Amino acid sequence: MTLILYVVSLIFCKMAYTNKLATILRHFVPVFVTQSLNVYFRTSYSFAASFDITYKCPLKCKHCYFIRQGYNKELSDEEWVKIFHKLRKKGVLVAIWVGGEPLLRKDLVRKGVEIFPFNWLITNGTLPIPNWEKVVVWISVDGTKPYYEKIRGPVYDKVKSNILSSPVAFRLAIVINKLNLECIEDLILEWVEYEKCIGINFDLYTPSIGEKGDLVLGNKDISNILQKLLKARNKYGDKIMVTKRMIDLHKVKNRSKVIGKNCLVRNVISLDPLGRRKRPCVIVGADCNRCGCTIPYLFTSALKYYDIPTYKMFLTHCL
Ligand SMILES: C[S@@+](CC[C@H](N)C(=O)[O-])C[C@H]1O[C@@H](n2cnc3c(N)ncnc32)[C@H](O)[C@@H]1O
Ligand code: SF4
Ligand code: SF4
Repeated sequence: MTLILYVVSLIFCKMAYTNKLATILRHFVPVFVTQSLNVYFRTSYSFAASFDITYKCPLKCKHCYFIRQGYNKELSDEEWVKIFHKLRKKGVLVAIWVGGEPLLRKDLVRKGVEIFPFNWLITNGTLPIPNWEKVVVWISVDGTKPYYEKIRGPVYDKVKSNILSSPVAFRLAIVINKLNLECIEDLILEWVEYEKCIGINFDLYTPSIGEKGDLVLGNKDISNILQKLLKARNKYGDKIMVTKRMIDLHKVKNRSKVIGKNCLVRNVISLDPLGRRKRPCVIVGADCNRCGCTIPYLFTSALKYYDIPTYKMFLTHCL
């Protein structure tokens, strides 16, 4: 069933390049089969790995899970490259470059990009954005200028000018929390017509266990946000990277089917700056029952509900 739906979704999705399609088919048929085994037989095949390639970062964002983890050491280039090869041999296809700010170790990330067939670079945009093949670039912009700066500090103009002066097509990565929820519509308006912004992704803030503070979204906030995202999705289609099924699963009454002990992201290998496995995922110490990360909703929508628009969105945006 998964396989049939996967192939059907490929036919419907707007894949422009035949060689890219061939790569995806070659790699992702086994991935979708093994991920389905994970769902039904609770096996733990990992097709993706995230690397906290450095602990360093010029920013101190209020919402950042990584800062709370308090790292102050990292592996050398040689140590990391050994790990990349090992994981590639084990079947990891998608490398997710994070940190800290991954572009502070740009040469190392470049080496990693050569090793993995698919790569996601998640950057704060304070450094020039590299124009590399095989890389999906995500730039974290958590608000229109005043909201952004409340969370990320006074670097909005620098980030925006880096983005505008770069030829690279990118997706925006937005984390909605209590401090920026008012600017969602304006933020979409600011970026949606910009040609090189080819997708806008929304995560909801994931709090730490026991966290109450000024970032945490209440149930009513979540419901309002989901309505706004649904409206945007209806208006702008696939550019808004949450499908209707994902939005539905995000509803407070449905969330337990997706997150907590049911979360499919637990199979992704996440390594800290010293190359050690992070559990349950990159957000060590997260309150999994209040998780707002989009990936578990995407995986569940695709692998448990066989949702064609989600497959299409994934194949269009994430590879
Ligand atoms: C830790 S950052 C590392 C990459 C880079 N420094 C950046 O900011 O894009 C990776 C992503 O996680 C997001 N993030 C940080 N803390 C989060 C949280 N508590 N809940 C959800 N997303 C979070 C950031 O906004 C960013 O998009
Ligand atoms: S730029 Fe990224 S790693 Fe740095 S503090 Fe902000 S979210 Fe965390
Ligand atoms: S924080 Fe979210 S993505 Fe991570 S393991 Fe928990 S539920 Fe899954």
